[in-house]
Amino acid sequence: MDKQNKKKYGFDTLTIHGAPDHPYRAVNPPIFMTSTFSFDSLEHADEVFSFDRSDYVYTRGNNPTLRLLEEKIAVLEEGVAAVAFSSGMAAVSSVLLSLLKPGDEVVAHRTVYGSSYNVLAQILPRYQIKCRFLDLTEIESLREAMYDNTKVIYFETPANPNLEIIDIARVSEVAGKWGATVVVDNTFATPYFQKPLIHGAHVVVHSATKYISGHGDVLGGLAVSRDQEYIHRLKFGYMCELGGVMSPFNGWLLLRGLKTLGLRMRQHEANARRVAGFLLAHPKVETVLYPGLPGFPGYETAKKQMTGFGGMVSFEVKGGLEPSKKLVNSLQLIKIAVSMGDA
Ligand SMILES: Cc1ncc(COP(=O)(O)O)c(C=O)c1O
Repeated sequence: MDKQNKKKYGFDTLTIHGAPDHPYRAVNPPIFMTSTFSFDSLEHADEVFSFDRSDYVYTRGNNPTLRLLEEKIAVLEEGVAAVAFSSGMAAVSSVLLSLLKPGDEVVAHRTVYGSSYNVLAQILPRYQIKCRFLDLTEIESLREAMYDNTKVIYFETPANPNLEIIDIARVSEVAGKWGATVVVDNTFATPYFQKPLIHGAHVVVHSATKYISGHGDVLGGLAVSRDQEYIHRLKFGYMCELGGVMSPFNGWLLLRGLKTLGLRMRQHEANARRVAGFLLAHPKVETVLYPGLPGFPGYETAKKQMTGFGGMVSFEVKGGLEPSKKLVNSLQLIKIAVSMGDA
């Protein structure tokens, strides 16, 4: 699909048609389950290794199924290029490592997914990279916290698990003044509801394990940017060298999941609105956290930068921990499990 057509078609159409045609005129993409690709000659190999030709070498660097997935997610996020990873955490950690060196600082929102927190708070400091956790819903606190060595601003919006909303455009404006790179984890919103790159973020990361898969049967991660040169560096300098490569089979499952992303997200949101409304009216519920509720602190910002409020709802039970445990242990249909975005 050429550039002009990408602009012409809507999101749902692009989830199906927004990548090049497949070999042998296959309507659905083949799974290239091969570790290695061959060359015609040493000269051909040389051209490929020098990036003069975009043929394939080895699946840890490139694979046709993964390339399709990367092209499709780049279109959907309105980026220019993407890298697929073995998991969301492989994407998060590789992106952070690619942007930071000893002596640099990261500013992160105070609420982030547990393993991302551990990378920021425990692993990076071992390499003399300091992380400061701030409330990024308060843009003034960010302005005061920027230093010359603040190289990355990292956050999720909506954040896991309390769904706090960060203003991507305002954070990007502050970051721009200091030459810092904004990295947004867009797992909760998906590109269906939010495209951080159009609001000024430099890199978007995903746990594709969640809504992009949509079926709870695959682990995967993605990173997308409008900076082609950065994506090249991320792919060949980090993903390929650190080895967090996605299996082509997982890439194929994610390409399949993406085809129904819009359909699923519309239904997830409709469900979430009903659940939030039910909980709000419940006498044993203390607070309901859902960005689509007009009383929610991030509501106005969510309305500005999202086209919908997503499928995640969290809530607090009156009476604190003990009644909350009792509620969870009494669930019948709902399973007690981590993760999200499954059917
Ligand atoms: C917001 C967010 N980012 C990243 C991750 C990590 O993704 P993965 O489990 O695919 O490594 C998760 C996982 O729950 C998540 O919720």
